Amino acid sequence: MGRTEKKILGKNAQVIIDTLKRAYSDEMRIFHYFWYVGINMEGIGLVTYAQALKTQATGELMHAELLANRISELGGRAPSNPTEWEKLSTIGTLDPAKHLTLRSALERAVKFEGKAVENYNALAKKALELGDFVTYNLATTVLADEVKDEQHTEDVLNSLEVK
Ligand SMILES: [Fe+2]
Ligand SMILES: [Fe+2]
Repeated sequence: MGRTEKKILGKNAQVIIDTLKRAYSDEMRIFHYFWYVGINMEGIGLVTYAQALKTQATGELMHAELLANRISELGGRAPSNPTEWEKLSTIGTLDPAKHLTLRSALERAVKFEGKAVENYNALAKKALELGDFVTYNLATTVLADEVKDEQHTEDVLNSLEVK
């Protein structure tokens, strides 16, 4: 952490780091979910939607990268072990192999995208409260993406003809 930021944030940096680590764990798991389902999709989704899921996967991976960068700026390190991701994660059990049809994949996704909206909203509030404007800015940027993700997933789900 830069000298000046260290002086400004003090002990609050650790509080932010801990929240960022949780968010990182969620993003890595969500990345893998979309990636795996995009590759292994079954049924009509394979021809119509698999590519969109892979694109979404890389979007989540970019979020993870932004978070990892901010964690290291604050003097921490993003959790490297997938076992740790599972412990820190806020989105519950997530096994992509159980959601390989389009409807099932989207139904699970709408839940964790909603959770992401809640989490980044809370992070933005907390960062503002603690005077960490860089993290605040990051949280609102990612929040805007997650709001879009949730809305888009809901829209596709509502217009599905496949039951
Ligand atoms: Fe994300
Ligand atoms: Fe998302």
